[in-house]
Amino acid sequence: MIQPAINPPFWLLAELTYRCPLHCVFCYNPVNYANIKNELSTAEWIRVMREARALGAAQLGFSGGEPLLRDDLDELVAEARKLGFYTNLITSGVGLNEKRIASLKQAGLDHIQLSFQDSTQEMNDFLSSTKTFELKKKVAGLIKQYDYPMVMNVVLHRHNIPHVDKIIDMALALEAEYLELANTQYYGWAMKNRQQLLPTREQLVAAEATVNAYREKIGKQCKLLFVVPDYFEERPKACMNGWGSIFLDIAPDGAALPCHNARELPGLDIPNVKDHSIREIWYDSQAFNFFRGDSWMQEPCRSCSEKEKDFGGCRCQAFLLTGDPAATDPVCSKSPNHHVVKLAIGEAEKRDLEPVAQEFPLIFRTDANSKRYAG
Ligand code: FES
Repeated sequence: MIQPAINPPFWLLAELTYRCPLHCVFCYNPVNYANIKNELSTAEWIRVMREARALGAAQLGFSGGEPLLRDDLDELVAEARKLGFYTNLITSGVGLNEKRIASLKQAGLDHIQLSFQDSTQEMNDFLSSTKTFELKKKVAGLIKQYDYPMVMNVVLHRHNIPHVDKIIDMALALEAEYLELANTQYYGWAMKNRQQLLPTREQLVAAEATVNAYREKIGKQCKLLFVVPDYFEERPKACMNGWGSIFLDIAPDGAALPCHNARELPGLDIPNVKDHSIREIWYDSQAFNFFRGDSWMQEPCRSCSEKEKDFGGCRCQAFLLTGDPAATDPVCSKSPNHHVVKLAIGEAEKRDLEPVAQEFPLIFRTDANSKRYAG
C-alpha cells in the first residue's frame, strides 16, 4: 500500500470569480455556478495567499470566470508578488486595456495566458457567444507591448480542430512564444456538450500531423503544445499529479478543492477557507485526504504496476462516466467500464456535425442555463 507522504501544495489556483463575459461551451466551471455566491473579499484572498505561501506554494494562477472582473486584481497581484509567488493571469482578455495592463505590470504580474476560441472572428465569436475576436487580437498586441511572453491557449474540439493550421498561423502572426492546443476535457459544460464537441480519431490524427509539420517548419519560433484528449488514450492521465499532491484550488466562494470539479463528487466534505486555515485544509481535511495514497482504490488499480504513475486516473471522470468516484478511470483499457469511452468515440465517428447540431444544440455557459441545472 502506498503511504501518502503529504508534500506541501505547489500550485495555488485562485478562481477569483465565476462571473465571465464569455459563454464558452467547453467551460470547466461547475454547471450550477449561478447558485454559488459570496465571493471572497480582498482581505480573505490575501489571507489565503499568505497561508498557502507559508506552506510552500510557489506558483499562483489567477483565473475564474474572468479574473479581470475583480477590481482588486491589481492589489492581489501586488500582494502575491510581495509574498514571492510566481504569478500567472489566465484570461479571456476581456477588460485588459492599456491602463489595466500597465497597472498589472507595475504590481509585478509575471505571466499572462490569453485564450482564443478559434482563428476566425466568425468561429471565435460563435463559440464564446460574444463579439470578442478583434478585442483579443488587440490584447495580444498589448501583451507583447508590455514585454510579456505571449502564451496563447486554444481549447480544441470537433468544431475548430480542422482549423489547427490557421490557429497556428494566427499565433505566429501575433508573435506568440507558446501555443497550447488543449483538446477539450469532458467536465462541466464540456460534458453537457460532449455529443457536439468530441472529435473523430481521423480529425485528431490529422491535427497532430499538422502540429508536427509546423514544429519542423518553425523550430523554436513558437513552442507548440498539443494535449491529446484522454478519451483516445489507453491509459488515464495522472490527474492533478495525484489527488492532494501539488494542486490547491480555491473557488470564488472559498471552497477549497483538490481539483476544479471536486465539488461535484459525492461523499466529500468540502472545506472552506472561511472556516479553516489552509494548513488544516491541506493536511487534515477529509476531502484532501480522501483519494490520497491507494487505500481507496479498487481493482484493477489496486494491484496495477502503473498506479504510481497515473494514480488510477481522474476521480471526476470516473464519477461522470460510471457514477462511482473510486472506480478506475474508464479511459484506461484495463477498466471494466472502458466500453463507455469506446462507445462515446464510436458515436462521434458515426455522426455528421449538422444533424447533431439539430439533435443536440450546443448549450452555452449562461446564467440562465446554469440556473436551470442548479434547479
Ligand atoms: Fe477532478 Fe481529475 S478533474 S480528479
